[in-house]
Amino acid sequence: MSERAEEDTVAVTVDRRIAWVSFNRPEKRNCMSPKLNRQMKRVIEELEFRDDVGVLVLKGEGTSWSAGMDLKEYFRENEEKGLGAIRQAQREAYGWWERLRWLEKPTVAMVNGWCFGGAYGPLFACDLAVAAEDAQFGLSEINWGILPGGGASKIIAELTGFRNAMYHAMMGENVDGRKAAEWGLVNEAVPADRLEARVTEIANVLLGKNPDALRATKWAIRRVREMTYDNAEEYLIRAQEAANFFDSEGRKEATRQFIDDKTFKPGLGAYDL
Ligand code: ACO
Repeated sequence: MSERAEEDTVAVTVDRRIAWVSFNRPEKRNCMSPKLNRQMKRVIEELEFRDDVGVLVLKGEGTSWSAGMDLKEYFRENEEKGLGAIRQAQREAYGWWERLRWLEKPTVAMVNGWCFGGAYGPLFACDLAVAAEDAQFGLSEINWGILPGGGASKIIAELTGFRNAMYHAMMGENVDGRKAAEWGLVNEAVPADRLEARVTEIANVLLGKNPDALRATKWAIRRVREMTYDNAEEYLIRAQEAANFFDSEGRKEATRQFIDDKTFKPGLGAYDL
């Protein structure tokens, strides 16, 4: 196949308020080239404020979620050009992962196949993650002579225990979706033929929640991870007060439906938006 145009490196469909965004270089196992990184940033920023999008799902076309960074187009070709090109490529990659981490809308990684190295960046950037049981996760960096950069070491150390992180990074062995779920790299693993249905189910639950509260919640969880208890407590007061600025009526309506109308119970589901 001739080389893919930049705009074809990412595929998007929006269906019933779910944006399905795909790494779209299946012939290269969806490894991340500079073109793909630039296109992902464009796509994500375009979807972020669209009224017909409530949840973003990140998936991969073909047999792979993403085989990490493109060893030829991201590493070798930029190293040949020099430090400026290396830094620019890093900024493009890290830039869209950062946008994804702080996206205004909830995000779900649907890991359908290979997930290597640099792909841990977008994996961690998604708020939730569901894998096929037979998906394969690996920090293969050690196998070709580098350390897990681009956030990958930080992510594995943080999401799994110390021993698991050391083994995973030093041995260069893959784990499957089930093990990734056991370790906390993803929320759960399901049989491959159930993957899309399960992700759709999760997305639909998220679509039923107050979107302002969801945004405030996902940002709060990401922020408090690095705070002391006291700082977190204070931050959360401020965050809730700021959230009231966006949506002062939502929780009053929810309180009314619970206390006055008795039409729902917050402990058992979301109020009627
Ligand atoms: N960078 C560049 N090209 C890649 C990458 C990659 N990360 N992954 C796959 N490709 C290319 C292959 O070179 C091949 O290209 P070609 O058709 O022009 O020869 C094509 O994608 C298909 O790859 P195969 O290896 O033939 O596919 P297969 O299904 O047999 O294996 C697998 C898939 C296991 C993912 C293998 O391609 C692989 O090991 N890829 C590298 C994974 C990796 O270590 N990524 C880097 C992590 S480190 C980091 O991201 C910083």
